[in-house]
Amino acid sequence: MAYLQWSDTFSVKVKEIDDQHKTLIGMLNTLHDAHIAQKGREAQKEIIDSMVNYAKTHFETEEKYMQKSNYAGYHSHKIEHDQFTLKALDLKRRVEEVGFVFTIEILEFLKSWLQNHIIGTDMKYSGHFNDYGLC
Ligand code: FEO
Repeated sequence: MAYLQWSDTFSVKVKEIDDQHKTLIGMLNTLHDAHIAQKGREAQKEIIDSMVNYAKTHFETEEKYMQKSNYAGYHSHKIEHDQFTLKALDLKRRVEEVGFVFTIEILEFLKSWLQNHIIGTDMKYSGHFNDYGLC
C-alpha cells in the first residue's frame, strides 16, 4: 500500500500537469518505502536528482501556461517554484558534500509541498487554465 495515493483532491483538471504531479507523489512513495525499509540513504540521491529534474520540466510547463494565459498569480507562484528549486539544489549539494541528509527532511519537505503548493497554490489556476482551454 502506497504511503500516499493519488486522488481527485490533487487534480488541477489538466491532464499533462496531473501526470507530472503524479510523478512527485511517486517520488514521495518511493522514498517513504525506502525509509521504512531502512534504505533511505541509498535511495535519497536518486530521489533528489529526480526532484531537480522535476523542478525544471514541471515548473517550465506550468509557467509557460501561466504566461500564455496571462495568469494574474504568475509572479507569486514562480517565487514558490524557485524556492523548491533552491531546496532541491541545496539537498543535492549537501548529499554530494556530506554523503547524506536525513531522509525525514526530504519526506517532510515533499509532503508539505503537496499540501501547501499543489493543493493550495496550484489549485488556484485550475479554473483559469480550464477557461483558457487546457484540460
Ligand atoms: Fe505543480 Fe506550481 O507546481
